[in-house]
Amino acid sequence: MDRQDITQAVAILKRGGLVAFPTETVYGLGADAGNPAALRRLYEIKGRPASHPVIVHLADAAQLSQWAREAPDSAHKLAAAFWPGPLTLILKRAARVGDDITGGQDTIGLRVPAHPVAHALLAAFGGGIAAPSANRFGRVSATTADHVHEEFGDSVDLVLDGGACEVGIESTIIDVSGERPALLRPGRISKREIEQVLGAPLAAPRADSPRAPGTLPVHYAPRTPVALVPAAALRAQVADRLRRGQRVAVLARRVPPEVDGRLAWIAAPETAVDYARGLYANLRRLDHAQCDVILVEQPPSSAEWAAVADRLQRAAV
Ligand code: TXA
Ligand code: MG
Repeated sequence: MDRQDITQAVAILKRGGLVAFPTETVYGLGADAGNPAALRRLYEIKGRPASHPVIVHLADAAQLSQWAREAPDSAHKLAAAFWPGPLTLILKRAARVGDDITGGQDTIGLRVPAHPVAHALLAAFGGGIAAPSANRFGRVSATTADHVHEEFGDSVDLVLDGGACEVGIESTIIDVSGERPALLRPGRISKREIEQVLGAPLAAPRADSPRAPGTLPVHYAPRTPVALVPAAALRAQVADRLRRGQRVAVLARRVPPEVDGRLAWIAAPETAVDYARGLYANLRRLDHAQCDVILVEQPPSSAEWAAVADRLQRAAV
């Protein structure tokens, strides 16, 4: 990655093209947030319904007021504590912001990413870059440049390669547009860390909370069916399926009990942070193993696993 790649990426964005770029969470598929034609192409390539909003990425928090018409105290506190970083804030949108970014809602999602390539791109571009995760709608997010190519082939104008993403799962989303801040999507920045900064507990999302497709029941799904299995039942389930002649993929925090040609097994890391970092790459690998099912060992129920548990539940049928 050098200066020239960034210059080329900016030129592509300015003429309405699409540039995929790394962030510390997952890769984003970027378009000029101020260009309606570019946004239409973005939605089309992603396969995302027009009613679903997309996050606008900014080089720094000072640009917030160009996109949001009001920022409560909670927004300033969270931005100061976690930007640049893996946090998205949902705010009331500024008057000039169109329906094509917000899915017709009165709110806008904003994030200042920390990844050096994302930051260099945003700083050089100057404006907001609308970027959903760089995967087809409903599918597993991309955490390497290869994943992006796998999803979109040549239909993206440029993919900036920044290596594998450090966080591995999407940003924490906090809605600060209502009476009380609410958690819409868990992520690396935990509920507790947010509450510590706010000095108050987060509200549960309200029935009328802004819609978020990452919060639909089925999302982040491989093509192979995924089943979540309690740790204690895993061994018996694997044996049972092999006996019935199935090919079985497994993601578990331990090594396989036996070697079997019909078994594709990934021993995932023991800690939530490391597990999350490799989660989507692991699901993709197992999806390619041509098995009848992917059995995923249920993660611990403790708070540090909340974001991983959320993604796994949505990947399972
Ligand atoms: O980590 C991330 O957030 C990545 C990187 C690329 O920044 N982006 C990402 O984008 O995950 P996407 O579009 O796959 O998921 C963004 C989530 C969606 O669930 C979307 O509905 C929600 O943010 N969102 C965006 N704007 C919103 C709004 N105005 N109100 C409610 N939810 C919003
Ligand atoms: Mg997504």
